[in-house]
Amino acid sequence: MLVEEVSAQILTISLKKRVSLRLAASEFFSRRPDLEHLKPAVRVLTTEVARRFKLLDRAAEVVLGLDPCRLDPYRRNLLRVLVFESMYRDIPLSRIEKVSLKLGLGKAQVRKLRETDERTLLRGLSYVERLSVKYSVPRWVIDELARARVPDLEGLLEFFMHDPPRYIRVSTHLVSREELARRLARYGIECVPDEDLHDLLYIVKMSTNLTKTEEYVQGLYHIQDKSSVLVGHAILSDLKKLGKTLVVDVTGGPGGKITHVSQYGYHCVGVDLSWRRVKEIERHVKRMHIETTDYVRGDSLNIPLRLDKFRIILVDPECTGLGRLHHSPEVKMWISRRDLIKHSKLQRALLRKIVKESARDTVIYYCTCTMTLDENEHQIKSIVEELNVELTDMEPFIGYSSPFLAKVQRLYPHLNKTTGFFIARLIKR
Ligand SMILES: C[S@@+](CC[C@H](N)C(=O)[O-])C[C@H]1O[C@@H](n2cnc3c(N)ncnc32)[C@H](O)[C@@H]1O
Repeated sequence: MLVEEVSAQILTISLKKRVSLRLAASEFFSRRPDLEHLKPAVRVLTTEVARRFKLLDRAAEVVLGLDPCRLDPYRRNLLRVLVFESMYRDIPLSRIEKVSLKLGLGKAQVRKLRETDERTLLRGLSYVERLSVKYSVPRWVIDELARARVPDLEGLLEFFMHDPPRYIRVSTHLVSREELARRLARYGIECVPDEDLHDLLYIVKMSTNLTKTEEYVQGLYHIQDKSSVLVGHAILSDLKKLGKTLVVDVTGGPGGKITHVSQYGYHCVGVDLSWRRVKEIERHVKRMHIETTDYVRGDSLNIPLRLDKFRIILVDPECTGLGRLHHSPEVKMWISRRDLIKHSKLQRALLRKIVKESARDTVIYYCTCTMTLDENEHQIKSIVEELNVELTDMEPFIGYSSPFLAKVQRLYPHLNKTTGFFIARLIKR
């Protein structure tokens, strides 16, 4: 089987099941261990194709006169792979001849693809359509990001075309940041201290997978984006004033934020609907030798805990994840407006429930890794209007305030070198 065929199969699994490329690949290779040697090449090829899928479809239409939508999903993805290799890879055309034959295409057609440049494909398109095709993001997403007044929108979309910045959170109860950086250097992992958060390392270069070191297994660090670590610091700054008190993350799996707060000795509880996610909290708690995190499976819409016992509550619901498109470019292939509507309904229900059941003076953090108004500012505005809750300032504040709500914090991938993120701090009155 050719590397292109394997890649097309993995893209098809990812699209059909709406799972990450990583998960789709692990499903494929568990069935075909004889092809494991293709893994690194497939990882690169599937990621690059997912990043540009709309542009590749446009090339098939404009240059070859083919409508990819009329092909079955596997052949559509094989065509995308072929177009990608013809246009963006400096390889002899003879190397992709077998693939083109499988799609019924001749040498002349492949040569035409090779001679095509992006500008030709984008000619004649409106501004929004051009952005949508060039960066392979659905049109409605561009509309939503523009509506949210994301600064330098094209800069953001361009940033999503590359590998994301990586961070690790240091288990400061086990090792110092300097010592960990020294130890990781031995694996070819070069990291520098983050300027804003004292327990964070920014990965400059890595030649070893971050989960494959002895230090990871020993729990000396956790792979976590800066935006998410920032939420832990905001909670910790409240805890400094409130003293020892209970914290709950009502959407707690896989435990990134609660294990962070607990590593400083505070008691946290994580609730999650999914058993798999609860098991992940357990795994991280054990790995990092965290003694003050508890976890329970449950539906927080009908929460199995008395919320009036907690002075700090975190609501970090599932969202469209549009702030993570550099981490998961495959999401661009399937995300739809229906997802936005579904997520915002659940977010609203969850936030309402939590605010209603919490005690007076409880601090409630609401955060998401997306940048749409419906999932962020609109949620906060409506809860403040409807229930007895106040929007307040927070610390640390290293992002940008929203043009729609001054006290909330936004993080932009291209400006903050993080995932796209939103944080609001509320107090129940
Ligand atoms: C964005 S993740 C939370 C990340 C987590 N706070 C952390 O810091 O690691 C959202 C989580 O919400 C969980 N979830 C979704 N609906 C839920 C519900 N009704 N009750 C509890 N958890 C839910 C999902 O299983 C998922 O693990």
